[in-house]
Amino acid sequence: MKTLILVGPMGSGKTTLGKRLAKELGVQFTDTDKLVAKTHGSITKIFEVHGEQHFRDLEHIALTEAIKAGGVIATGGGVVLRPENLALMKGHSVVFLDTAAEFVLGKINLEKRPLLKDNPERWQTIYDERKKLYEEAATATLFTGGASVKALIKQLKDLV
Ligand code: S3P
Repeated sequence: MKTLILVGPMGSGKTTLGKRLAKELGVQFTDTDKLVAKTHGSITKIFEVHGEQHFRDLEHIALTEAIKAGGVIATGGGVVLRPENLALMKGHSVVFLDTAAEFVLGKINLEKRPLLKDNPERWQTIYDERKKLYEEAATATLFTGGASVKALIKQLKDLV
């Protein structure tokens, strides 16, 4: 199986779907946020203490490691912001998990999302800023809002 990379906005299901898909396929699963947190502590703390750009540096290193390991990779919503990450993802299957604010707000853990913590409504602005980048990175798009995990896993399996 080709390495499968899931990209998309916060709350689109990258981790939930990635973990389940990898389990069902019997392949490696890596979540780049978890990889960063494992070595450097919580994402919220990293943002607070060192700032977003430092987090982006760590995220780039995590993505490099994850791609080396292969299997299914869940990324953070901002992974597409760095052109070097887009270059790393080239040649792999990249699925844009698309969604909309109505399916996300009220459901996601804001404590774990420093960019939304003080202003959840910012989700839409961030989404609008990045949508083109997700599309540029992706080899396929799947709308996850309102759909069951089971149905989405089936659709993802058809893509790998
Ligand atoms: C971010 C998304 C988060 C995490 C960090 C920044 C973003 O990951 O990487 O808080 O810039 O969209 P999720 O997309 O898994 O929430």
